[in-house]
Amino acid sequence: MGVIELLGNTTLSSLCIDRPKPIWPFEGKQQSICSRGNRGLQTSISIMASSTVPAAAVNEKDDGEQLECLSKVSGDSFIRSHLRKLKPYQPILPFEVLSAQLGRKPEDIVKLDANENPYGPPPEVFEALGAMKFPYIYPDPESRRLRAALAEDSGLGSEYILAGCGADELIDLIMRCVLDPGDKIVDCPPTFTMYEFDAAVNGAFVVKVPRNSDFSLDVERIVQVVEQEKPKCIFLTSPNNPDGSIIGDDTLLKILDLPILVVLDEAYIEFSGIESKMQWVKKHENLIVLRTFSKRAGLAGLRVGYGAFPLSIIEYLWRAKQPYNVSVAAEVSACAALRNSAYLEKVKVALVQERERLFKLLKEVPFLNPFPSYSNFILCEVASGMDAKKLKEDLAKMGVMIRHYNNKELSGYVRVSVGKPEQTDALMKCLKCLS
Ligand SMILES: Cc1ncc(COP(=O)(O)O)c(C=O)c1O
Repeated sequence: MGVIELLGNTTLSSLCIDRPKPIWPFEGKQQSICSRGNRGLQTSISIMASSTVPAAAVNEKDDGEQLECLSKVSGDSFIRSHLRKLKPYQPILPFEVLSAQLGRKPEDIVKLDANENPYGPPPEVFEALGAMKFPYIYPDPESRRLRAALAEDSGLGSEYILAGCGADELIDLIMRCVLDPGDKIVDCPPTFTMYEFDAAVNGAFVVKVPRNSDFSLDVERIVQVVEQEKPKCIFLTSPNNPDGSIIGDDTLLKILDLPILVVLDEAYIEFSGIESKMQWVKKHENLIVLRTFSKRAGLAGLRVGYGAFPLSIIEYLWRAKQPYNVSVAAEVSACAALRNSAYLEKVKVALVQERERLFKLLKEVPFLNPFPSYSNFILCEVASGMDAKKLKEDLAKMGVMIRHYNNKELSGYVRVSVGKPEQTDALMKCLKCLS
């Protein structure tokens, strides 16, 4: 059974109430709120209808009293009600923090916790960054050079492509364009947690359809949920983070037949050996495909991702996106990376080979059950009485970072990113010490 989770306390009835609300002077200080008195009131349909801001109190008192009244208002009362209930996103420990804690150089930390590309970008990227002529000029809002390069790289016309500050930005942008408060999305956990997080930020409900025990999608249940709950969109990940499984064409086509917008996240597609579905957006009006330079080109720190969209959808993303979402540095880096496709291919082959070696080695560890992966990471069940969280902590003390999860479904698992051969060797040495 999928679980409908109400993220935040926004309810449908709280979304459509006609009620006067203060116009908050976003440009101003607290004094300017007080000095406006009654002029700061208008009638509107608002999702802030359930706000605890004391509009009536502001309305009735004179300016001096209002100032006193507002000074007692706690800052969080200005925050949208559904956001006040938001669980914070749990960021990973920055590796430089761990290296400082351990008294080691950052480069001596074996960082296998965030699926970055340990080879980094091709040398052309460093040259392009050093040769940047106009960092003081705003970037091209349409990222024309990058989109032209991506069109060549993907074979899809640049009019179908939009770039973003990482795929992360595009996930949020899609939700901002598609979801009205109270709309539903389908999420298939365990998967990338940003879908659930961004849905909560955008005031949407999350209908969860958990994956089968082999991490494949429960398609029957997805069909049922689409019929019953009428969600607006579904987020699918292939290969899926954290287990590395892929979605077959038949399954994808079945879901594309449903009356739902399908966002297919291909952040790790390069490691899978299967073709990207970017071209499919020409045939399927309800498909969006997301990609990133973070994994493929070792540019996670520069934040650049892209998506392929049907023309009927992309138009609205253009209207809603921040004009300068892709920085000058990000655009020149991504273009430079694409110019050295031989390097990108070499690094991909090295990571795929290392994944196979790592998988065999992890299989020999008595307390780990690794899952086969089509990506640049391997999920492992932690068995034989070993505690997954403690394993992660013990490895961190030895300078090896892997990912552990706080959520219930994955609390007994760890995920290990594929690194360079010497990083695999260091990990195995530490695991031996813990055996
Ligand atoms: C499935 C998935 N999608 C998207 C992203 C984020 O990509 P980006 O770095 O381009 O924001 C990640 C990052 O780990 C991911 O695992």
